[in-house]
Amino acid sequence: MISSLPLCAISFILVSTTVFGAECGSYTIQWINCSTVVPYELLPSTLHCGQLTVPMNYEEPIGDMNNVTLHFAMYRPQNPKGLINFNPGGPNGEVPSNIWELALNTSTAEPLLPLIEYDILGESTFCSPTTEGEFQLLQEAANQYATSCNDQSKPGLIETMSTNVNIQDWNSVRQALGYDEMNFLAESYGTFGAARYAAKYPQHIGRMVLDAVLATGLPNVKLLEWEVESVNNLLLRSDAYCLNDTACPYRKEGKGSIVKAYQEAVAMADGGNSSGVSSSDFRAMAYLNFLDTRPKFPALNQALYDAIHQGNWSAFNYTAYAPYYTPQLMAVLPTVCLDQDLQNHTFAYFESIQADLNAVDRFDMKYVQDLTLVPLCAGWPFKGQPNRKVYSEAAMLLVTADFDLNTPANSTFYERLQLPNTTLVVRHGDDHVSDVEPGPVRNIESEYLASGVLPSATNGTLYTVYPPGCKPGPILNPYDVPVGTVAGDIE
Ligand SMILES: *[C@@H]1O[C@H](CO)[C@@H](O)[C@H](O)[C@H]1NC(C)=O
Ligand SMILES: *[C@@H]1O[C@H](CO)[C@@H](O)[C@H](O)[C@H]1NC(C)=O
Ligand SMILES: *[C@@H]1O[C@H](CO)[C@@H](O)[C@H](O)[C@H]1NC(C)=O
Ligand SMILES: *[C@@H]1O[C@H](CO)[C@@H](O)[C@H](O)[C@H]1NC(C)=O
Ligand SMILES: *[C@@H]1O[C@H](CO)[C@@H](O)[C@H](O)[C@H]1NC(C)=O
Ligand SMILES: *[C@@H]1O[C@H](CO)[C@@H](O)[C@H](O)[C@H]1NC(C)=O
Ligand SMILES: *[C@@H]1O[C@H](CO)[C@@H](O)[C@H](O)[C@H]1NC(C)=O
Ligand SMILES: *[C@@H]1O[C@H](CO)[C@@H](O)[C@H](O)[C@H]1NC(C)=O
Ligand SMILES: *[C@@H]1O[C@H](CO)[C@@H](O)[C@H](O)[C@H]1NC(C)=O
Ligand SMILES: *[C@@H]1O[C@H](CO)[C@@H](O)[C@H](O)[C@H]1NC(C)=O
Ligand SMILES: *[C@@H]1O[C@H](CO)[C@@H](O)[C@H](O)[C@H]1NC(C)=O
Repeated sequence: MISSLPLCAISFILVSTTVFGAECGSYTIQWINCSTVVPYELLPSTLHCGQLTVPMNYEEPIGDMNNVTLHFAMYRPQNPKGLINFNPGGPNGEVPSNIWELALNTSTAEPLLPLIEYDILGESTFCSPTTEGEFQLLQEAANQYATSCNDQSKPGLIETMSTNVNIQDWNSVRQALGYDEMNFLAESYGTFGAARYAAKYPQHIGRMVLDAVLATGLPNVKLLEWEVESVNNLLLRSDAYCLNDTACPYRKEGKGSIVKAYQEAVAMADGGNSSGVSSSDFRAMAYLNFLDTRPKFPALNQALYDAIHQGNWSAFNYTAYAPYYTPQLMAVLPTVCLDQDLQNHTFAYFESIQADLNAVDRFDMKYVQDLTLVPLCAGWPFKGQPNRKVYSEAAMLLVTADFDLNTPANSTFYERLQLPNTTLVVRHGDDHVSDVEPGPVRNIESEYLASGVLPSATNGTLYTVYPPGCKPGPILNPYDVPVGTVAGDIE
């Protein structure tokens, strides 16, 4: 579920049907000169910066001890067509810079076309900063991180960083901007908030795009099992890629050579012939460096060869990667750990999950990123809330891809059982989140945001559309789906 590198976060894109400022909510926005916060010289007139002070805890009245200031950036065209809340997921990365990039037109990923007709807001609330023994170390690390985060923030803030509070913040901003309706372009962890917002404020939602869905109410173990199945499928996708890639060093060895190479590398690491890279580091790096988020199949295939045949294991060196990775992992904890009520904080529980996962781990890959969240959240000192399912009959667009690892297609299918009036698009290919992949599925999202037109039933090579009431078929065989640019692969 965590989208790694960069971990994006909770943000907003807002667009309006009325000229903004016409109506005020309970709290008043303070607009500020963007030059004081945006590190660029020439700022376009479409870029606006503001802050809104809201209660930290919405159960209590706002006051000296109970307020927090949300900081946001907005992109505001001349005559906005409406308000879109854009959540790139994460959670808890830095968000407003997404909006600067959009306003400055410096983003490397081209934004969905209709966005530029809307007001866009980016908001973030984030704090600045295999054995039982290892389990305890992670617990302790999370506890220390929470303590230091808490010391550096407004007292009590860290306890209110849940998605349930965040959706109330979004609603406060919507109201303060004077919009009745908010559209959503939610990605990844952002979908978790978008679905909750739709259920809590049904009268205030417009067009909803939920792309790469983290289902509400999904038990941890199920999510992890599906991630394990997905990462195993991705090894087969890398194999399928190799068969069709003239530069792949294993191509002549035929089908299955990449799975074999993976297992050979594990055996070498276990035998101490891997320049000090342990097999658990190798597994973690194959996942984090190559298969996560937007898989890099050609690079993985080459790196396996370089390790096994050239003795170059540097691409699997977790020690070198950790200083970069760990802070990003820690940054998700304030929200992720509050969004679930982890009932059991013991190592025995952790081991019982691992045993469940082994049963679906075809190629014995062992590592799954979100499993690390179990010991980390077990050490989190603030109590989470139960992760309840939400229900909404609103029409929406749900999007997934067969081989998404971070939010497996099954997670999107699961959420759809609770959102029965949604149109589902399954992109046949790789990668987490589809609105960044040029192609027909991105166009469907764009079209829906622009005009409200949902796609009709289709069954094609690149994607399949299931209108409300139609159940999705099984996830396709990794060898039956084309590889390459059409599948979103990095060449
Ligand atoms: C914003 O601040 C910059 C630099 O301090 C200044 O040059 C500019 O005139 C200010 N803009 C407005 C609208 O006040
Ligand atoms: C928010 O709290 C600060 C103290 O932390 C106080 O100075 C300020 O007046 C409060 N604002 C509101 C709107 O309650
Ligand atoms: C953004 O820049 C690209 C070129 O990098 C250009 O084609 C496009 O028209 C620009 N968009 C806007 C809204 O200015
Ligand atoms: C998806 O879930 C179904 C059960 O609901 C399971 O049989 C299947 O193996 C899962 N597929 C993947 C790729 O996780
Ligand atoms: C270690 O790997 C190298 C290739 O990187 C190989 O030449 C050597 O035979 C291996 N040694 C053992 C003990 O497996
Ligand atoms: C791994 O990285 C560490 C720290 O950067 C370095 O000391 C070590 O030599 C590297 N090992 C390999 C196999 O690249
Ligand atoms: C080892 O592989 C890395 C890329 O994974 C590359 O940057 C480095 O130059 C290689 N080292 C040697 C000695 O070939
Ligand atoms: C925690 O999980 C373990 C392993 O499944 C179990 O033995 C233990 O009873 C559980 N503890 C609690 C408090 O539920
Ligand atoms: C489902 O969506 C359609 C079209 O968007 C709408 O006409 C219908 O009323 C919705 N059904 C429910 C139960 O909300
Ligand atoms: C789509 O077509 C494939 C064959 O090309 C078929 O196996 C699959 O069941 C079809 N799916 C739907 C939803 O019609
Ligand atoms: C392999 O590549 C060729 C040429 O680029 C392409 O036509 C074909 O569809 C690809 N096959 C797969 C399975 O992706």
